[in-house]
Formats: sequence, C-alpha cells, structure tokens
Amino acid sequence: MQSCVWRPKRLRQNANFRRLVRETRLGADHLVMPFFVREGKGIKNQIASLPGNYQLSVDNLVAEAKAAKALGIPAVLLFGIPEKKDERGSGAYAKNGIIQKATAALKQKVPGLLVITDVCLCEFTSTGHCGILKGGAREVRLDNDATLELLAKTAVSQARSGADMVAPSAMADGQVAAIRKALDEDGFTETPIMAYSAKYASSFYGPFRDAAESAPKLGNRLTYQMDPSNFREALREIALDVQEGADIVMVKPALAYLDIIARAKQKFQVPVAAYNVSGEFAMVKAAARLGWLDETRTILEILTAIRRAGADIIITYHAIDVAKKLH
Ligand code: PBG
Repeated sequence: MQSCVWRPKRLRQNANFRRLVRETRLGADHLVMPFFVREGKGIKNQIASLPGNYQLSVDNLVAEAKAAKALGIPAVLLFGIPEKKDERGSGAYAKNGIIQKATAALKQKVPGLLVITDVCLCEFTSTGHCGILKGGAREVRLDNDATLELLAKTAVSQARSGADMVAPSAMADGQVAAIRKALDEDGFTETPIMAYSAKYASSFYGPFRDAAESAPKLGNRLTYQMDPSNFREALREIALDVQEGADIVMVKPALAYLDIIARAKQKFQVPVAAYNVSGEFAMVKAAARLGWLDETRTILEILTAIRRAGADIIITYHAIDVAKKLH
C-alpha cells in the first residue's frame, strides 16, 4: 500500500468530517429578501419571469415580511411601482409615495426587521431611466447633477418614513456623497448607505424590469452602468464610494462577477454585498422547471459560491426559500 502524506479524502469520508472542515457557511443571517410593492389592497400579482415573487400591495407585503422575519432573515429591500410615472420621477420622493407608505407600515407592523430602500428613479420616471435625462441628446445621457438632487431627496424622504438603510442604485456619479450630505443635514446621521458601487449594465436584469415595470422606454443604460468587460474600473468605483461614505459596498450581478466580489473583499475594509439578480434567479427556476437541474442543490451551491467569493451579504429572491431549508 502506497503511503500518502495527504489523502484529501480522509476528511470527506462522512458528513461530520465535512461539517468540521467546511470553510464557508450560508445562513439566514446573510440574506436580504427583495420585495416589489404597489398601490392597492389585497394585491398579489405573480411575476411570470420571477416564479414565486409578486407585486404586493402594502397589506400583503406586511404578511410576507413577517414570514421572512420569522425565518431569521434580518432585512428586506423594497422596490416600488407607483400609480403614475413622470419625467422627474416624483413618485420616488413623494411624501405619500408607495415606498414611503410601505416602509412606514413595515416599521410599525414588523418591528425588528430592517427595511432597506432602493434609491433610484427608474421605477418612477416615464422614460424608465434611473435619473433625469439631458434634453436633446441623441444618445441617452443622465443629467448627473439634476439627478443627484432628486436621489438625495428620495433618500431623505425614505429615511423620514422610517427606512433603516438606503441603497442608491442609479449609478449617478457622486450619489453616495450627495445622499450622505442630505441625510446628515436632515438629522439622519445614523442611517447607513449600502451603495450599489459596481453595478454592471447587465442582461441579467430582464425579469426585474418586468417586475418593477422599469424597462427603459428609449435606449439602454450603457452610458451610466458599468461595462461588463471592466475589472479595474469596478475597484475605482468601489474606492470612490468608500471615500464618499458608503457603509456597505455592493457588486451586482453576483454570479458572473465573482472575481469582482473576491477582489473587493480583499481590498476594502467594508462589508461587501452581492446582488444575486433576477436573471440569475430565473435561469435556475427555468432549468429546474424543465427538470434539467436539481433546484435546491443548485441554489445552495450558487449562494455558497457567492459567500465563498467574499460576500458578507447576499440579496436574493431565493432568500425565503433558502431560509426555510436552512431552518
Ligand atoms: C434599479 C435597479 C435594478 C435592479 C436593482 N435596482 C434594475 C436596473 O438597473 O435596470 C436589478 C435587480 C435585479 O435584476 O434583480 N436601478
């Protein structure tokens, strides 16, 4: 018998050995569940491309959020679908806007659950873009400074309605600094910012845009979201957000960008979040429906890989299902 210094299989021989030497843990602690909320009562509209996810009215959102909390999920992330859209996305910062109402209801009815609000205009603008557009341009371009003002207004209005953390996702330059300043001036010095720092112009957002009714009406987001080819640029974006006061930085999407997550974790001393986006979710669901993949094992493998790459936090539409499995 050949003697071997290291036989890797020694520590794989049964479940207890494997548990002892497991390097990466996946638990409900790390998960954030996104929800889509709209006006009305008793509404629970199935989103075809996001099976098991719904556009919810506030009453139903409260029920779902309670279930998430009961499973040990610490936080939810809210996206709003307003009744009316306009060029300046005024529903995003309306005192009685859908996100503001939903946030207030959750803070009152589901205490002990963190409410994170997405700070962006794309669900609220008639153009479907994440900010104000420069007039007359042939190519879609954001009017950056006009957009910053509205993003800051949106964040303050969300904080006033009780948001525990705001998450700017518009990819406007300087958005973290503008929001930090506005929050501080309004007395919200303790409200953290989770910045969508490295957000790529990705085809994986397709189902989300159905869910949030936020697909751009003209052009695309290539002039403000990142080129998927770029790595160093992501690190510069993250560094800038850290400098501007981001408390948590995010890489989005997750699965096709594990290299960015890994580097961000090594390089920066802030928590790193990864957004396992709608298209990543839909791919697994579709393949599972066809019987081509084992759904549960695939989901656990993907989320564990995102954690292994370095994500402290994972925002995922699988959160509730996974928390049930891990419970
Ligand atoms: C808003 C926003 C988007 C997502 C999160 N915030 C859509 C986009 O940029 O088009 C996508 C999330 C997902 O696909 O799950 N700007």
